[in-house]
Amino acid sequence: MCGIVGYIGSKSVVEILTEGLRKLEYRGYDSSGIAVATPEIKVYKAQGKLQNLEEWMMQHADETKNATKGIGHIRWATHGAPTTVNAHPHTCNCGKLVIVHNGIIENFKELRVELEKKGCTFQSQTDTETVAHLIAQEFAKTKDLTEAVRIATQQIQGAYALCIMHQDLPDVLVATKRNAPLLVGIGDGEYFVASDIPAIIEHTKRAMYLNDNEIVTLTRDSMSLIDIDNNKKEMKIETLPWEPVALSKMGFKHFMLKEIHEQPDVIRNVLSGKIYNVDEPVSLKEVKLTDADLKNLNRIQIIACGTSLHAAMAGKYLIEDMCSIPVDVEASSEFIYRKNVTDANTLVIGVSQSGETADTITAIKQSKEKGSHILIITNRPDSAMARLADSLIPVSAGIEVSVAATKSYVAQLISFYLLAIYMAEIKGTASVEFLKELKRELVIIPQKIEQILAHKDDIRKCAKEYSSYKNFIYIARGINLATSLEGALKLKEISYINATGYAAGELKHGPIAMLDETMPVLAILMKGSVYEKILSNAEESKARNAKLIALTNSDDEKLNSLFDNIIKVPDVSEILSPIIAVVPLQLLAYYIAEYLGKDVDQPRNLAKSVTVE
Ligand code: AGP
Repeated sequence: MCGIVGYIGSKSVVEILTEGLRKLEYRGYDSSGIAVATPEIKVYKAQGKLQNLEEWMMQHADETKNATKGIGHIRWATHGAPTTVNAHPHTCNCGKLVIVHNGIIENFKELRVELEKKGCTFQSQTDTETVAHLIAQEFAKTKDLTEAVRIATQQIQGAYALCIMHQDLPDVLVATKRNAPLLVGIGDGEYFVASDIPAIIEHTKRAMYLNDNEIVTLTRDSMSLIDIDNNKKEMKIETLPWEPVALSKMGFKHFMLKEIHEQPDVIRNVLSGKIYNVDEPVSLKEVKLTDADLKNLNRIQIIACGTSLHAAMAGKYLIEDMCSIPVDVEASSEFIYRKNVTDANTLVIGVSQSGETADTITAIKQSKEKGSHILIITNRPDSAMARLADSLIPVSAGIEVSVAATKSYVAQLISFYLLAIYMAEIKGTASVEFLKELKRELVIIPQKIEQILAHKDDIRKCAKEYSSYKNFIYIARGINLATSLEGALKLKEISYINATGYAAGELKHGPIAMLDETMPVLAILMKGSVYEKILSNAEESKARNAKLIALTNSDDEKLNSLFDNIIKVPDVSEILSPIIAVVPLQLLAYYIAEYLGKDVDQPRNLAKSVTVE
């Protein structure tokens, strides 16, 4: 889950590459590097943040100012420590061939042994350097870079997006991919290669997505496409659906805070075109299953990772509650390595913000082979996962830059409400009045979130009080168990505090042993069927001197004596409460991380999409 860029044209290339890498920094920030054709190939690398590379480039501005072709890389280290030697780009021994790579070469050890036998000497511990030597070997035979890449990639196993150039071919840039995202931006007399849209959107809105095993050859005035079997491929040019402004912080200090504030409009966006009026059934044309299929459905399997898995857990609760269909939810990384049971009568739902998460893609491919109907809920309708879908529900949250998912989570939740209502209306498994009331309340949720955002300073104060704790527990029951897990994940991933979400009823079976005055316990105490139960779990925690925070829509006076802090949220029915309850938890995590001076948008060791297993 690195980011790669490439450029061939007439403009000075260094800034185009570094600006492109900045827009891809959410994919990894262990090291970065670029290579430019001056026309001699010159390689520049730096450990750590992109800024280090930019400072290094300033010192070499003279030797690169005339370069109009180059490639670049931003790294999330998998093979080889995040050092300058292991940073990309990597070259062959003569230094004339240079590559950047996103993905993992699974058979690199075997290839390395063969290449060392042929006299190649390796500088780094990376899997990627193997590919540089492999392509150079083929180029020595063919003197044709496209052909060399084609032959070399036939010997590679694993996932890769590659961009390659050779010093002897100053007017050629080649790129290819398999199981990793890659697109080409088409300009006027120039081409941009990138792992994702943000790196090219300010230059052009015309682009071509590469499919697996396709190889594109670019010159300053031409583009050609073949596949790994040397067949000419049709080039499908698309218009990118975003504006460059989507990539600005709009005056917020961090993308995460901006994206939290975008949630009311994101929800309005997801609901628009789906709920016209509450008396009409939900319109969900994206579901390509007939009413008969839905009526005969005997099981749903949902697969996802991280925050998307939490949305899936809430989805399970909603679908079982409204549609009485058994729903299993599982982490993709577990699902793919066991004898999972899905068949043609199982609806398999994949949930993913990026649509590029490798484990979920593998799980979807496994289920597709078994004949299941594949429904994908994703924020990236242009992603590899979306291309596997029989039914595709785009959650339309807009580009999410901050590594910590917020608006995409809420958009996934809303999509599950729409799906559950849609299926319940077709199956007649919930009362018309209940569904009408649910829709009526759903469309006013955005205002309630605006109320929470308007009072965010109360949450900032609470965050300050709790920012020095090393551990944190979230407890909840029922549909908000997913919310407690999501709240804990947000705090973990951006503040590095050891936060855990628990089913409140599980406390007594072990976790309660950890409670004392050093352990804050946040109880998600929303009015409804489990309110009293959670209250008694909170009292048990108080009895062990834990610091207690309540997140609640209750006006119950006695809460003031039990809880040290109360985060009050607008009233909402229990079934809709996860959408409301998660927002203060996002803000709490944000402000605690901000107080601790953490890099909120680019937390250590993380990346926005995990494109390797
Ligand atoms: C969430 O904040 C994290 N970025 C991470 O857990 C993420 O949800 C997970 O990697 C799944 O990503 P996806 O939704 O793009 O598949």
